Amino acid sequence: MMTMEQKWWHKSTVYQIYPRSFHDHNGDGIGDIQGIIEKLDYLAFLGIDVIWLSPVYESPNDDNGYDISDYYRIHEEFGTMEDMEQLIKEAKKRNIHIIMDLVINHTSDEHPWFIESRKSKNNPYRDFYIWRDGRDGPPSELTSIFSGSAWEYDEETDQYYFHLFSKKQPDLNLHHKEVREHLYNMMSFWLDKGISGFRMDVIDLIGKEIDQNIIPNGPKLHEYLQEMNENVLSKYNVMTVGETPSATTEIAKQFTGPGRNELDMVFTFQHMSLDEVQGKGKWELKPLDLLDLKNTLSHWQTALHDKGWNSLYWNNHDQPRIVSRFGNDGEYRVESAKMLATVLHMMQGTPYIYQGEEIGMTNIQFDTINDYKDIETLNYYREKRDEGVPHDTIMQSIQVKGRDNARTPFQWDTEQNAGFTEGKPWIEVNPNYKAINAEASLQNKQSIFYHYKKLIELRKKLDIIVYGEYELLLKEHKEIFSYVRRYQNETLLVVANFYEEETEFRLPKEISDSNATLIISNYDDSNTHPASLTLRPYEAVVYAMKE
Ligand code: NOJ
Repeated sequence: MMTMEQKWWHKSTVYQIYPRSFHDHNGDGIGDIQGIIEKLDYLAFLGIDVIWLSPVYESPNDDNGYDISDYYRIHEEFGTMEDMEQLIKEAKKRNIHIIMDLVINHTSDEHPWFIESRKSKNNPYRDFYIWRDGRDGPPSELTSIFSGSAWEYDEETDQYYFHLFSKKQPDLNLHHKEVREHLYNMMSFWLDKGISGFRMDVIDLIGKEIDQNIIPNGPKLHEYLQEMNENVLSKYNVMTVGETPSATTEIAKQFTGPGRNELDMVFTFQHMSLDEVQGKGKWELKPLDLLDLKNTLSHWQTALHDKGWNSLYWNNHDQPRIVSRFGNDGEYRVESAKMLATVLHMMQGTPYIYQGEEIGMTNIQFDTINDYKDIETLNYYREKRDEGVPHDTIMQSIQVKGRDNARTPFQWDTEQNAGFTEGKPWIEVNPNYKAINAEASLQNKQSIFYHYKKLIELRKKLDIIVYGEYELLLKEHKEIFSYVRRYQNETLLVVANFYEEETEFRLPKEISDSNATLIISNYDDSNTHPASLTLRPYEAVVYAMKE
């Protein structure tokens, strides 16, 4: 039974835009804000409620905008502050909220704070960042997520600064009160412009203690989030989602539990690491075991029910395309994309759709490393080549896991460059755009697009999707992902075949199937009754039952 206070974002579906790759209005090959405005009607038609906008702030683009040099300015590649204000206004007209990316673990090394900070050991900005003396080399063994040491030597003052990401992304020192105050003011500035919240980049790092090697979930993390909530967030009716790569369900409850006054939801990474060799990082691949996926997602569903709030996602700008990853991007692209969407969108939490997911965009396979643009990918390639790993072995991992899989331009139509730009795209378009594009999707009522549209509508119509309890069925079944949701005297049954081979489903006896109605399916002739099913390749069906 639901005991939580209801919030506007409980029923919302979020759509993530990676502006560089969404739609280019001015023909310079880079997506921009006017390009987004032109596509708002498309998004409104899909039915989404919120846009999460990846960073549009001024940035030297070492990490495509996640390295900010001015929090108060829009990057000129994307437009102007007036464009941004127009976007907020035009979105509002269509009942779409905008949330912005908040990147406060680090800035760009070209941010004026860092430019001042590095000038001398004693200046008011020195402690805005993390500086240490070397010890016959870097101060510690800590390594950067983008390869190499996390410490960069700076000749000017003969000290090292800390950067968990690229050396052009020095970490801010959030223990410095003045830094936090600056950041709170900046957040209020944007909220006062009418945005509806933030997606917070690697927010679980902001309380860290470098000298004790406590990086994620540092001792001051929750204190700072509560302070941020009190000073800023509590004054607005907003939603917040924290990117928390290291969160377990216990930690997620601390972030999102009722009365904690920290964040509204967080992104778990646990289901995103099931296809990598444990402890070896993202590039060491292993096939997904469906039992792991069922256990992981079900654990989050159960643990956070009434004790927090889940975010639901398969994709974002850092992850490969889900249909290529856990689905089948060949013969059963449409069926498997719809199946994956169904399994996720019938769960409890706020769903996130990443641009292009709704038309079943796939991974890219560039043959040469020169076509890749992502700093993480390029650093990884260089590091592995230096270690003597053969080109083909590295490329295999990059083609499966590299972040550029998600960053190729949105495929709008069959025109040149998939209708993304009239110029030269900053990254190559996926050659499959003639078959996979939004225009074709909109013309075909059986497309993945309309399946997503229907899933979004169902969440708005049926409280059981939003608030119902979750129970995994057939726990040990290796091919079927099935669960029920229960709310008041209703039951929702989800049954999905994760593979290409047919498989049999028998409804467990304890589940009453009286008055079952098939409410969504990815085949046009699925069984209208769930008692016994022969599931075809990737078939996914949902039934609503009333007692
Ligand atoms: C997480 C972001 O999603 C990713 O794109 C970025 O590279 C890192 N944080 C650093 O900001």
